[in-house]
Amino acid sequence: MQSYNIQNIVSNLEDNPLTLWNKGQLVVVPTETVYGLAADAANDTAVAQIYALKKRPKFNPLIAHMADIAMAKRYVVWCDEAEILARKFWPGALTLVLPLQSGAAISALATDGGDTLAIRVPNHPITRALIAAFDKPIVAPSANQSGRISPTKAAHVRAEFGDAVPLIIDGGACAIGVESTVLDLTGDAPVLLRAGGITANEIEAALGKSVLRAHQQNIAQKGAGTLRSPGMLTRHYAPNTKLRLNATEVMPDEALLAFGAPLPGAAIIFNLSESGDLVEAASRLFAGLRELDATGASAIAAMPIPNENIGEAINDRLTRAAVREQGSRIRG
Ligand code: TXA
Ligand code: MG
Repeated sequence: MQSYNIQNIVSNLEDNPLTLWNKGQLVVVPTETVYGLAADAANDTAVAQIYALKKRPKFNPLIAHMADIAMAKRYVVWCDEAEILARKFWPGALTLVLPLQSGAAISALATDGGDTLAIRVPNHPITRALIAAFDKPIVAPSANQSGRISPTKAAHVRAEFGDAVPLIIDGGACAIGVESTVLDLTGDAPVLLRAGGITANEIEAALGKSVLRAHQQNIAQKGAGTLRSPGMLTRHYAPNTKLRLNATEVMPDEALLAFGAPLPGAAIIFNLSESGDLVEAASRLFAGLRELDATGASAIAAMPIPNENIGEAINDRLTRAAVREQGSRIRG
C-alpha cells in the first residue's frame, strides 16, 4: 500500500471525514471497485440515511469496510477459509460473509437484523487510511440511487447526489470498476452470492475446493430434501410475538409500535418517530421490534407507515417480519 499521511489528506479537505462520520453524516469514498456511500457502521441514524438517500426499497444488508484483518477479527467469527482468502485477496475486491460476533457494534439496520456480516478491506490507499484512522468499520454501498449504475468517478457521484452528501472524496477513477465478489462462508461450503472483481476460479484455486453458486446451493438443498443448510436458515430478526400490521386500534393486551401520534389505549408503546420522520423510524425499527418482543404482549400492533421514500423499506421489513409460518426460509 502506498503510504498516505492521513493528516495531509484531511487537512486538504474542507470537512474532515472522520468528524463527519462521528457526527453520523455520510461521506462518499473511493474504492478500487466503485465509489461507496459511507457511514459509521455502528450508527443507526447514519445507516438509515444511506438507505433513504439511495431510495432502496429494501434494507439489503451492507458491506462493512475494514482497515485490515485485525480490525475484521473484532467484528466477525473468523475461520481458516477466511484467513486464506483474506491473506491472498485483501486489500481487494472480495467480500466475505461471516457470522457476526455477538455484541459487535454494528447497526442492526446494516445487517437487516441478521446475524452475519459482509466485510472487506478496500484497496484504495485514501479510504484504507481513513478507516484505520477512524478505527472502526464504515458501511458503504455503491454511491448511486437504487437501480442505477454504480459510480466509478467522483463526477458520477456528484451527478447522482449533488449536494445531498456533505463530502465526496475524489480518489480518481476506480481501477476495477465493478463491485466486489461476495462469498458466503457461513455454511458447509463457500457460496458465491455475487460475481465481481475476484473470479470464482481464483477463489477455488486459493481454497483448493469448489465454490457453490447461489442457484446450485438451492438445487442441492431441494435434492437433499432438507432446509438444514445454514445458508437457508432464518438469519434475519423477526419477533416471536405476532406482528399485526396497519393497526388502527390497539387491543388491551397488545404492545404498540407507533409512528407519529400513538393510537389511544396502549399500555406499552415504542414510538418509531413521534414527529413522523421516516429516517428516524427506520433507525429505530429493529430496536423497537426487539423491545416490544420482550414485553410478553399477546401481539405487536404496528401503526401504518407511509409507503414513500424509506417507508417502503420499513414496510418491506415489517411485512417479512409478520410472516411467521415459513420460519426456516431466509426472507428476501
Ligand atoms: O465493491 C463493492 O462491494 C462496493 C464498494 C463500495 O465496496 N459496495 C457494494 O455494496 O457493492 P452494495 O451494498 O451495493 O452491495 C452489497 C452486496 C449486496 O448484494 C448484498 O446483498 C450483499 O452484498 N450482502 C451484504 N451483507 C450481506 C450478508 N450479511 N449476507 C449476504 N449478503 C450480503
Ligand atoms: Mg450497488
